[in-house]
Amino acid sequence: MSDIILGIESSCDDTSAAVIADGLLKSNVIASQKVHEAYGGVVPELASRVHQQNIVPVVSEALRQAGVRAEDLSAIAYTRGPGLLGSLHVGTSFAKGMAIGLDIPLVDVNHLHGHVLSHFIKENPEDETPEFPFLCLLVSGGNSQIVFVSSPSEMRIIGQTIDDAAGEAFDKCAKIMGLPYPGGPHIDRIASEGDPTRFKFSKPHTAGYDYSFSGLKTSFLYTLRDAVKEDADFIEKNRADLCASLQKTIIDILLSKLEPAIRETGVRHVAIGGGVSANSGVRQAVSDLCGRLGVRAWIPARKFTTDNAAMVAMAGYYKYQKKEFCDLGLPPFARTTI
Ligand code: KG4
Repeated sequence: MSDIILGIESSCDDTSAAVIADGLLKSNVIASQKVHEAYGGVVPELASRVHQQNIVPVVSEALRQAGVRAEDLSAIAYTRGPGLLGSLHVGTSFAKGMAIGLDIPLVDVNHLHGHVLSHFIKENPEDETPEFPFLCLLVSGGNSQIVFVSSPSEMRIIGQTIDDAAGEAFDKCAKIMGLPYPGGPHIDRIASEGDPTRFKFSKPHTAGYDYSFSGLKTSFLYTLRDAVKEDADFIEKNRADLCASLQKTIIDILLSKLEPAIRETGVRHVAIGGGVSANSGVRQAVSDLCGRLGVRAWIPARKFTTDNAAMVAMAGYYKYQKKEFCDLGLPPFARTTI
């Protein structure tokens, strides 16, 4: 009999459901929420309400695309946290209700484990996966971490941001330039036409493998504020160079810790994950660094970089095989380390 896992993700502003059967991805449906664009950031209460509207059609569509019935499922895996509590409650409650109704086990998944394990999602049996132990640079709107991964269930954060995340640096600087939310993809696109050496922004001095991005945001803000006083059209005229220089600075900061972490841990495989790993500059820079150090780089398909249920189903599949089920009374959590 097949092991068929339904994954449910609702930690932020994407409602997603996916089906994994015997380790192979059968469907991955994502409903992104457009409602937040008008506010320049995710509004938690609106996110919960849209999750409620989306969850039934998204799960139905994931089952339909996978060609399985609810009765065929072996277990339900869901994101327990970290994330927005209201949003997490929608996925958690739905997963619990479905598990009770079908009388099958429930598996809780840490969202960050999901991002790391997104490299183990197989669409074809011959797809390759990283070798343990490996390092994962996890960079998203809420996290910037270097994770030492020993096995699907054992991972340790060896460095993390002490303030803003890399995605926040992209989004907040984009907002200062008047770009729509989320700004990361816009900066990525515009940066390709600019000169990355034109502007210099401040870089942090943090201990060990820890990151900091709030100083960069302040330095960016002050550069623009002073320049706009002299020339009101400064941003308009220099947008491409500003985006390219900002993106280059963020990449330099990320690599300034990733490189020593690779050297000092001696890992042979390095992965990236999270929304910011969709950035073309980050992808290229990590590939180049790994090439230079002679280690293998794992750059995820763009569809698996942002929040998705395929990674939740994958992480759930590992826990299901070890019979690591959770109690129906388990509450979601907003914050956590891995
Ligand atoms: O992992 P994710 O979908 O969820 C959150 O943690 O919220 O990451 C979202 C973040 C946002 O900050 C977004 O601007 C950033 O990922 N992002 C990018 C790109 N695509 C998404 N940042 C830079 N370049 C991109 N191409």
